[in-house]
Amino acid sequence: MKIISFEGFEYSGKSTQIRLLKNYFKKNRITANFTREPGGEKDLEKIRKIILQSNFDNLSLILFFFASRFSLLSKLKKSNLLIFDRFFDSTYAYQKYTKKDKELIIKLIKLIEKKFIPRITFYFKINKKTLLLRKKKRGVKNRFDKRYLNQFSRIQKNYNEISKLRLFNRKFVIIDANKSEKIIHEQILKNLKKWKLIK
Ligand code: TYD
Repeated sequence: MKIISFEGFEYSGKSTQIRLLKNYFKKNRITANFTREPGGEKDLEKIRKIILQSNFDNLSLILFFFASRFSLLSKLKKSNLLIFDRFFDSTYAYQKYTKKDKELIIKLIKLIEKKFIPRITFYFKINKKTLLLRKKKRGVKNRFDKRYLNQFSRIQKNYNEISKLRLFNRKFVIIDANKSEKIIHEQILKNLKKWKLIK
């Protein structure tokens, strides 16, 4: 099973690119499955709602996200290609404040079986100016978004940090999320071909 994950801050265009990729796969008869976190499965989608509307403390959030994650992984059906809309990098990026958080999150990440580690992670790096422009255009989506919107710099820093930790030998591809949809879509396809995830 080949896993690809998409990561990035809100408004980075991650969801748009996942949609474009879905269309591309359909058009080119490439079989692939898509999932998202938190959620990704019937019962877990209920938990997603609860988590994203919650006011839990950070330690609880770390554990909830990982509980949801391990449960999802245990239920995954075999597939050729599996695309994750957010995965463990999100917990590191969003829920890491202290050294203790870091140690716990890394410990949990290391419990993930090797076969579930992405071959490629696409990280959508957006700058503050583009972020504010898109936010103005689209508005704030949910309570969870609001909670983290003013923590952009910390979250961005955490994404950079986890990319450098080299926890596994996956490819960590940094996408300039300020570029156009079309350019980013092509860049993603180019990488998937280069690393032999698609022909
Ligand atoms: P969602 O509406 O899916 O946001 P997006 O479209 O940007 O992916 O909401 C997911 C939210 O959950 C998002 O704000 C990031 C957050 N999140 C964490 O804080 N930690 C995690 O481990 C995961 C998977 C998500």
